[in-house]
Amino acid sequence: MAIRKVGVLGCGLMGSGIAEVAAKAGFDTVVREVSEALLEKGMGKIRGSLGKAVEKGKMTAEERDAVLGRIHGTTSFEALADCDLVVEAIVENLDEKKATYAALDKVAKPTAIFASNTSSLTVTQLAMATSRPARFVGLHFFNPVPVMKLVEVVRTLLTEDAALAEIDEFCRAIGKTPVACKDNSGFIVNRLLVPYLLDAIRALEEGVGSVADIDEGMKLGCGYPMGPFQLLDFVGLDTTYFIANIMFEEYREKRFAPPPLLKQMVQAGRFGKKSGRGFYDHSKK
Ligand code: CAA
Ligand code: NAD
Repeated sequence: MAIRKVGVLGCGLMGSGIAEVAAKAGFDTVVREVSEALLEKGMGKIRGSLGKAVEKGKMTAEERDAVLGRIHGTTSFEALADCDLVVEAIVENLDEKKATYAALDKVAKPTAIFASNTSSLTVTQLAMATSRPARFVGLHFFNPVPVMKLVEVVRTLLTEDAALAEIDEFCRAIGKTPVACKDNSGFIVNRLLVPYLLDAIRALEEGVGSVADIDEGMKLGCGYPMGPFQLLDFVGLDTTYFIANIMFEEYREKRFAPPPLLKQMVQAGRFGKKSGRGFYDHSKK
């Protein structure tokens, strides 16, 4: 296996999960955040998730300690210099991602593969912001990362076969099932899921049903594990808003347009579970 050491950019909802699954699979893992406080918050998520696994008897305390011992947190780019793969999971913003890749590119070894966990940006434009478009892929994980089996693997016109083969091996080593996707905004899953989530907000705006009743409808009527509002709160309303704007910009179709209520909730700081309040109140959990 060519990939031995894994870097992760961002230790938020997704980055913390990606670092956790990589370390669980035995990879030395370095995770970078922008500040010590955010790094500590992200590492707390990883400790919490592994702690639950121990409580449930899925792993021993010794195994948890070994996994944590393989994860090194940092705020520097230099600590990623000897990584064979760097998975970026920072905020869904093109300029932020490009600036991050520019800094990473200066220190990463030339053979390292860069992978973006972007939900909606096309991968080619990110690859072209680096010196290594042939060794750049989209690697789209799903939330919660330790549970969801799927990874969408996005090949651009410039991705080389060798990099794809290494990524395929990595996905299987961390226990995920890769599916191949073309480099179109939203890939497969978000192309279908995002219009559904946005339409649930439009249904609420139109008074079709309450938040609780729309959620109950989709859970009991369709067998979905979460209703659309539970899922929106879980994904993050800020992230959903960024995704909707990017997809609308790309496709110019109403189904991708962010509804006014979503915009207002983001403006009001109601980001969902991560901020304690979204369509539901999470402050007491
Ligand atoms: N970390 C680790 N494990 C977790 C977890 C987490 N954050 N959340 C739940 N789990 C585990 C639990 O420990 C439990 O494991 P066991 O069965 O082995 O005990 C299992 O998952 C089921 O959890 P629960 O019993 O607590 O709750 P549940 O049955 O309601 O399942 C869920 C929780 C897996 C999150 C389920 O509700 C679900 O599948 N929801 C839909 C998630 C989804 O659609 N994700 C995709 C979002 S879109 C996206 O990611 C793409 C994008 O770009 C926006
Ligand atoms: P989040 O807001 O939970 O976390 C993003 C983290 O990145 C924050 O902690 C932030 O401090 C950090 N960050 C910002 N700039 C950084 C930089 N230059 N270097 C290192 N860290 C930096 O967001 P998230 O939900 O984890 O989303 C991250 C990425 O994953 C986005 O591209 C998003 O579209 C994608 N994604 C999200 C989901 C989801 O369900 N939320 C699912 C799949 C993919």
